[in-house]
Amino acid sequence: MADEASIDPAHDTGEGVRRRDFINIAAVSFAGVGGLAALVPLISQMSASADVLAESSTELDISAIQPGQAIKAVFRKQPVFVRNLTPAEIAEAGKVDPGSLRDPQTLEERTKEGKTNWLITMGVCTHLGCVPLGAGEGEVKGEFGGYFCPCHGSSYDTAARIRKGPAPKNLEVPPYEFTSDTVVKIG
Ligand code: FES
Repeated sequence: MADEASIDPAHDTGEGVRRRDFINIAAVSFAGVGGLAALVPLISQMSASADVLAESSTELDISAIQPGQAIKAVFRKQPVFVRNLTPAEIAEAGKVDPGSLRDPQTLEERTKEGKTNWLITMGVCTHLGCVPLGAGEGEVKGEFGGYFCPCHGSSYDTAARIRKGPAPKNLEVPPYEFTSDTVVKIG
């Protein structure tokens, strides 16, 4: 029976190798074009009830996110959480001595000046990459009120800092900027 090992060795001639190289180069080139396309800002409108936005979104209208609410968006094919913290959640984050944390950071260091209520992080657990709960309506937030990863029980606080469980780092803050009071550009 023919299998990989019995394929004609002529396929492994220099020509075959060059052909494979071409295919690889073509694939890389395509990825490059895709990467550039991803840099082009795409506006995605958000309704109050929608918590999942188009995968290609890099600019988000956050005007409908009320204090205490969060949405899930997608940035570079990975989930991103955008959360409007309540004053109580901000105060809760401020109570913690950063020096006592596994990955020491203040909420201020994880947010933009004057906008500490807007917590924008990747929705990817820093343990093994599951998507934590807490951004969707009704999802459990874990014992520290931020996010909870159901895969192995990592709990993040209201600044999305790791507080308990196996995850080594806080949820990553992606590069972003506010292009207006209500629009944030991620990336
Ligand atoms: S992947 Fe989140 S705790 Fe393991």
